[in-house]
Amino acid sequence: MNTTDFASIDFFTDRSLYDNPYPYFEWLRSQGAVWREPFHDVVMVTGYDEAKVIYNDNATFSSCNAVSGPFPGFPVPLVGEDVTDLIEQHRDELPFSDQLPTFDPPKHQDHRGLLMRLITPKRLKENEAFMWRIADQQISEFIDNGACEWIAEYTSPVTLLVIADLLGVPEADHSEFQDELQSNRRARSAVGSSDGAAMAHKPLEFLYDRFTKYIEECRRTPREDVMTGLALATFPDGTLPNVVDAMRIAANLFAAGQETTARLLGNAFQFLGERPDIQIKLRDDRSLIPAFIEESLRVESPIKGDFRLSRVPSTIGGVELPAGTTVMLLNGAANRDPRMFENPSEFKLDRPNGRHHIGFGFGLHTCAGAPLARSEARITIERILDRIENIGINETEHGNANERHYTYAPTFMLRGVQNLHLTFDKIA
Ligand code: HEM
Repeated sequence: MNTTDFASIDFFTDRSLYDNPYPYFEWLRSQGAVWREPFHDVVMVTGYDEAKVIYNDNATFSSCNAVSGPFPGFPVPLVGEDVTDLIEQHRDELPFSDQLPTFDPPKHQDHRGLLMRLITPKRLKENEAFMWRIADQQISEFIDNGACEWIAEYTSPVTLLVIADLLGVPEADHSEFQDELQSNRRARSAVGSSDGAAMAHKPLEFLYDRFTKYIEECRRTPREDVMTGLALATFPDGTLPNVVDAMRIAANLFAAGQETTARLLGNAFQFLGERPDIQIKLRDDRSLIPAFIEESLRVESPIKGDFRLSRVPSTIGGVELPAGTTVMLLNGAANRDPRMFENPSEFKLDRPNGRHHIGFGFGLHTCAGAPLARSEARITIERILDRIENIGINETEHGNANERHYTYAPTFMLRGVQNLHLTFDKIA
């Protein structure tokens, strides 16, 4: 595709960008670190510094459209020098309006505070013990085959069950949650869809019922467990949230943490399969695993971008953004900004500033589950290196090294392979 063709590409609907959005991102960057695309009037931010300025400025930029962006569009015309009141009047009509990433201060702090009371260091430690166990259990299911489809056989079930465990979903109910995962792909694929009809107003309904039941039970009969902790956790001012708010926290964690971490594990193992040299380095020196995870997040950011809506006029990167502007912070492009990262498309384990990527966002809304995602990736890699060697890409499924073909998530938000067929040798 040549440069002229990119001008005719609509990032939000064009399927040709799913496989490899990066040449398009570079074309966007050549238009400027901040540039208004013509199809949906969205200001695309590919600059690392510019993205951080916006992430940090919650007074100017609302998160009300963080997940939905320009779809289905704000319910009323956003006219005037300050659209704050219009946003407040209509924000509840936007998709995902009941989820933490779309909240603004002060409500955001209260609800994030509630969430952070659940993801405590102590709870994360207990959750890690479960991760080691579930990682082994899942690997045992396919290890004797010498091959696996990594996404279906490992990343999807493990990422789901880790969050279920974090929240204290009884193990007896885990398989039911797995079945729901399978049958609710439609709801999750609504994230990053430009199809307004497909984007249900509350795409998590299926989890809401379950958690309402758990929380009501725990409030009636408190026990010494995590679910009771969730049911009885209070806002920072000491008030008890209503059941609906407590339930949403739980359901939101599934939405925010499951598919994203599954993408990270998919991307990381695609790199491992493609790069035997990196595999050897990690095996020789396990202390390189964290750097490997950060570089995976930088080079292939599982969330390609988040949105913001400007309340008042501002100037970012020399570009004027009037009130009512929809902005897309392209993490996947900012993480390859050559002003920040040298030879940005190169995967380098010893990159000195690799950890400074914004794959988990930045500022007030920075990913609440980042420690959990990092632990999940680290434990997975540790156990795989212990039990398996010579991980390779299955050439029958993905073609030989010169003609690789992968299918990527069909959304403009998420980045990662839909399936990943690996081959390997079991360590005796
Ligand atoms: C590799 C995996 C993950 C990636 C790449 C990722 C990425 C992100 C990003 C970019 C944001 C910022 C959104 C914004 O500013 O609009 C975010 C927020 C969030 N993430 Fe993650 N995430 C991951 C895993 C998780 C996990 C495992 C959990 C929970 C267990 C989680 C929970 C959340 C929550 C609750 C928020 C909203 C925080 C807020 O609005 O204050 N994430 N994530």
